[in-house]
Amino acid sequence: MAGTAQFVIQAFEARYHSTPDVARAPGRVNLIGEHTDYNLGLVLPVAIDLDCYVASAPNRLGVLRIHSQNLDQSREWPVGQISGLRAIGDWSDYVIGIARQLPLGRGRDVLIHSSVPLGSGLSSSAALEVATALALGWPGDLPSIELAKLAQRAETDFMGVPSGIMDQFAAIFGQRDAALLIDCRSLESQTIALPDAVAIVAVNTMVKHELGQSAYRQRVAECASAALDIGVESLRDAEAHQLELIRDPIAQRRARHILSENQRVLEFVEASRKGDLREMGRLLVESHRSLEHDYEVTCAELDFLADRAMQIEGTLGARMTGGGFGGCTVNLVEPAAVERFKETLGSAYLEKFGIEPVFYHVRPSDGAQRIS
Ligand code: GLA
Repeated sequence: MAGTAQFVIQAFEARYHSTPDVARAPGRVNLIGEHTDYNLGLVLPVAIDLDCYVASAPNRLGVLRIHSQNLDQSREWPVGQISGLRAIGDWSDYVIGIARQLPLGRGRDVLIHSSVPLGSGLSSSAALEVATALALGWPGDLPSIELAKLAQRAETDFMGVPSGIMDQFAAIFGQRDAALLIDCRSLESQTIALPDAVAIVAVNTMVKHELGQSAYRQRVAECASAALDIGVESLRDAEAHQLELIRDPIAQRRARHILSENQRVLEFVEASRKGDLREMGRLLVESHRSLEHDYEVTCAELDFLADRAMQIEGTLGARMTGGGFGGCTVNLVEPAAVERFKETLGSAYLEKFGIEPVFYHVRPSDGAQRIS
């Protein structure tokens, strides 16, 4: 059993005096296909080797008790009140968003330990949702689209965030050494082998601008209105020549990003199959430009990291990843150049913003599993 799982079991036993079931689910980094998931488009995430462990066992106290090891915070509620709770805007929302969908019997204890950095665009929330559902005894087999949908509902139904399904899907279906090409309309996925000669490095801006959540909702609404003008159910069904049917110029730019981004995902997959690293890198840069100018979800810190990274020898491509307005960039770097990349970019960012960025040289990893 992995060292982390043992550590989590010991911490659980010390706190609650019973032996738990443990599940883990990974974070993800999205290589390309940004903001396309809620437009039923294409995305290409990899599950990463940073993950969330959740331990849980029944109690007979009639309460749900939860504890975050990372934050050293605890919460508890009578089981009978769970279905009537409202989101309060902190980490416990993700747990309640799941717990309210599963039978809790006469009570439950939960302990969480995560190495996915919180709020950094690497999907710490989906990792927590999926691991919580498994630890609380979600009954199906893995991997499962039903589990991805249940986890997504924690955000859409309980927290009222209209997010797509990419993060939960990646946390469940992730594959070691490969990326996942997900079609968010059919919910079918394919594993895409990545060339060996490339390292994936996420760089954390260490900022999260407040605008993020409201802008996300706004983008979802802008895309819906663009689809309405064109007369299609979602922008997945729109074609480039129809963009001129969109009346609002801002919505038109948003839609242009979605259409061009879906196309870039396909081109990236093709380039990856051919081992064409230069082309893969070029597509990342183009994606960033489109997110910066058409979709407008980047920020000064993300733009700086993406632009400056491209000046470092050995960087193949760089762009923001995740929702935007802070969080991380994802970079494809020649393996031999990773150390230089970190040093050069780290000191440039520190000099510019007075903040030390954090680097994660991630490896594509397996999706969620039950450990005991
Ligand atoms: C967030 C959401 C995802 C997706 C990305 C942008 O991570 O949770 O569903 O929309 O933003 O690609």
